[in-house]
Formats: sequence, structure tokens, C-alpha cells
Amino acid sequence: MQVAVFSAKPYDRQFLEAANAAAGAPHRLVFQEARLSAETVALAQGAGAICAFVNDQADAGVLEALAGLDVRLVALRCAGFNNVDLVAAQRLGITVARVPAYSPESVAEHTVAMMLSLNRRIHRAYARVREGNFALDGLLGFDMHGRTAGIVGTGRIGLAVARILRGFGCHLLAHDTFPSEEGRALGLDYVAMEELLARSDIITLHCPLTPATRHLIDAAAIGGMKRGAMLINTSRGAIVDTRAAIDGLKSGAIGLLGLDVYEEEADLFFEDLSGQMLQDDIFARLLTFPNVLVTAHQAFFTADAMAAIAEITLDNISAFASTGRARHEVSTEKLA
Ligand code: NAI
Repeated sequence: MQVAVFSAKPYDRQFLEAANAAAGAPHRLVFQEARLSAETVALAQGAGAICAFVNDQADAGVLEALAGLDVRLVALRCAGFNNVDLVAAQRLGITVARVPAYSPESVAEHTVAMMLSLNRRIHRAYARVREGNFALDGLLGFDMHGRTAGIVGTGRIGLAVARILRGFGCHLLAHDTFPSEEGRALGLDYVAMEELLARSDIITLHCPLTPATRHLIDAAAIGGMKRGAMLINTSRGAIVDTRAAIDGLKSGAIGLLGLDVYEEEADLFFEDLSGQMLQDDIFARLLTFPNVLVTAHQAFFTADAMAAIAEITLDNISAFASTGRARHEVSTEKLA
């Protein structure tokens, strides 16, 4: 099957080509640097499937154009699917597939790396020491041991975070619409969101972006947090209301903020914009805070995760090519 791979970076090409070769090269992969949008959708001409990533926009208009080109499969090479209009896809007879689990540890380990970096001010210490400043003022951290961490969303990634934090000796609170038995067995104490916010020294977000979780962390939620708590978001940007987070940082309600994702990241992340003027004033403000650490959606980015993503993505495409059903389809039920 011919597959148009959108938002393709050299590393995507490397891992997808390796996985295709390992399977006997059943597919013709056509790599497009462009992000999928109404303007670029024509690049899918001749393909039976497209392969898309987190910031590719598969809204109703794009899906209609894809259907017009006879594209029957949108194979996401990521877990989240908030960027695809599933209702429109179903109406148009386009199958949507994703990679539900590749390496939850990759994201969990990056999440904890952000916690430790912020807590011990590693991002500031690194810059200071290189400039010959060996003073410790402003670098005071706290012991993770004995602190309370609140995990919002205890699916694969949330549970992987829980396992690591348990090793640190943290008390673990959790909130999930569907509490997990495995979570309880790990010692998670499931509580209401308000209680989690009020009691946690560290709050970490691992729920998907849905209408119910958009701006889950808004001004009211930040107001209900333990003053000066650490907030980490490695899930999806729009779960946090960035303007409210900036107000929370200014007032001291949020003590430390770690973001691997950002509401308006589509115009920024995955590109080298170092020679350009930053146009997003909200993002620019975030970068001015010494107690904010931003990474550009890299939590998944390990060799292990990339290899698994490529393999599962090609498996989805192969299954669809031979049976008409992808291995890991996303249905509109997932919107519930
Ligand atoms: P998962 O589907 O295994 O777990 C999600 C959990 O969130 C489920 O237990 C679900 O019940 C819960 N949930 C749903 N709605 C909720 C709500 N309103 N309140 C509380 N909990 C709710 O998903 P997984 O694999 O753990 O991934 C979580 C998210 O992480 C993905 O949706 C994706 O957006 C993000 N992600 C980020 C990556 C990165 O590189 N930064 C990479 C991979 C995933």
C-alpha cells in the first residue's frame, strides 16, 4: 500500500523505513515534511493510507479531501487522537488507527525527569556552573521521599509514573473516571479531583484531551491547589489553561511548572525556530519564569519508543491492507 507520511522528520523516516524493511517492505512510504492541513492534504494523492502525528490536523474538511483522494486509512503514529474528527471519519468511511501503547515508560520517565529537574533546579544549575557561578542560592529543592504526588489519569502512563514515584517513597493520590485495580494494588489512593489538587505537592497529568478534560486545570483548579505545588503536563497542552497557569505562577499558587506539551504547540514544536522572532506572546511569557521548564513534546522520544511506534504503525497498515481492519482502530466510542 502507498502511504503518505506527514510531518516526517529524519528520525521518523529512519524508524519507519527500518520497520518496513524488517517486514519485507510491503508498503511504499512517501515522506512529506509538511504538516497535514487543508493546504497540504493534496500531497496524499495516490496513497491508500496516510500516516499522521500529533500536530497533523485531520478535521472534517481534511478528511473529506482525503476521502476524495480515496484514502481509506488514517494511521496515527501516536497514542492521542484528539486531532482527528472521529465522527467525520466514521461518516466518510475512513478508518482511524493509532498506537495505543508503545512505551509508557518513555513518557513516564521524562515526566519524572521534569519533576527532578524542576525540584533540584537542574536547568538553572547547568547554566550557572557553565558560567562559573557555583553559588547555591535559589537552588533549594525538597526531598521527594514522603511528599504527596497526585496522578490525574491512571492509564498506562499514569501507572508507569506511579511505579517510579512509589520507588521514591512518595504518597500517591490519584484521580480517574475509571479507577484501576492495578492502581489500587500499587497503593494509589483514589480521591476526587478537588482533594487531589488540595493535598498534592506534585500534580501530574496523564489523562487524554477530550471535551471533558479541556482546561481541566483552569483558574479555579489552580486556586484549589496546595499553594506552591509543582504541576507537570506531559499529556496534551489544552488540558492546562496556559493563561491561568501564568497567573498562577505570578501569584505563587503554582511553585514549579513543567510542560512537555502546550496548547498552541502546533505552530512551534518539532521545528528549529531559533532564527525567528517568537510570535506567541503567551508562550514567550512562560519562558521568562525561572521556575518553568518546557520541553517540546519529547517525552515519547526514546529509541525504544520510536522503534515500537514504527512497528505498530506498520502493523496497523498491513492489517488494514490485508483484512480491511487495522489492528488498533479508534472508534467514536472513545469520545465518550
Ligand atoms: P490511557 O488511555 O492508557 O490512560 C488514560 C487514562 O485517563 C485512563 O485511565 C482514563 O480513564 C483516564 N481519563 C480519561 N478521562 C479522564 C478524566 N476526565 N479525568 C481523569 N482521568 C481521565 O492513555 P496513556 O497511554 O496513559 O496516555 C495518556 C495521554 O498521554 C495520551 O492521551 C496522550 O495525550 C499523552 N501522551 C503524551 C506523549 C508525549 O510525548 N508527551 C506520548 C504519549 C501519550
